[in-house]
Amino acid sequence: MAYNPQDHFFRMAKKDGYLARSAYKLEEIQQKYRIIKPTDKILDLGCAPGAWSQVILKNIGPKGFLRGVDLKAVTLAAPNAEFVAEDIYKLTLEDFKEAPYDVVVSDMAPNTTGIQFRDQTLSEELCLRVIDLCDQLLKPNGNMAMKLFQGGGSKEIEMGIRKRFAKMQMLKPKSTRKESKEIFVIGLKKLANPKI
Ligand SMILES: C[S@@+](CC[C@H](N)C(=O)[O-])C[C@H]1O[C@@H](n2cnc3c(N)ncnc32)[C@H](O)[C@@H]1O
Repeated sequence: MAYNPQDHFFRMAKKDGYLARSAYKLEEIQQKYRIIKPTDKILDLGCAPGAWSQVILKNIGPKGFLRGVDLKAVTLAAPNAEFVAEDIYKLTLEDFKEAPYDVVVSDMAPNTTGIQFRDQTLSEELCLRVIDLCDQLLKPNGNMAMKLFQGGGSKEIEMGIRKRFAKMQMLKPKSTRKESKEIFVIGLKKLANPKI
């Protein structure tokens, strides 16, 4: 039978005690760009079932803090983590009482319809919401990483990050399917006075 890298990451996640193989995407981002530091306060958007949150908790240690948000409830529990089951479009700034954050990450993905253009547009909308939240909730010098289904509006998203951060990087993790349009846009060191 042909080698399937997805099975490989699925098996690895089981062995490593991760709730999903998506953990390895954030691990790779962290290995390459060191976006998370011990004691950081982190906002994890689209956190269910909780694999990225597991990676974050490992990296921030007991003195850091994690706020997770997802439409779905999360069963993961930690003394320095709080999870909200809510739509990211419905939350207001007052819901993020511990803000500002050192890092904002988003693995949010729309419910895919199979219609590529529609899925990409919904993903771009989620990314624009993440950028908006970074404007309001991320500290100067803070880092961000978010998932984007690449399509017609990708350049606008990339430009949005370039304007606000000292450096922008794009990463297609090893655990992402080759045929997938998924890519991660990474913003390093938020500018104190963004050019927007
Ligand atoms: C790929 S999963 C995230 C996996 C997660 N990072 C992990 O490692 O366990 C994408 C998540 O985005 C969430 N999502 C999509 N749209 C959302 C929205 N408007 N508000 C909050 N969460 C959303 C979905 O409910 C789904 O759980």
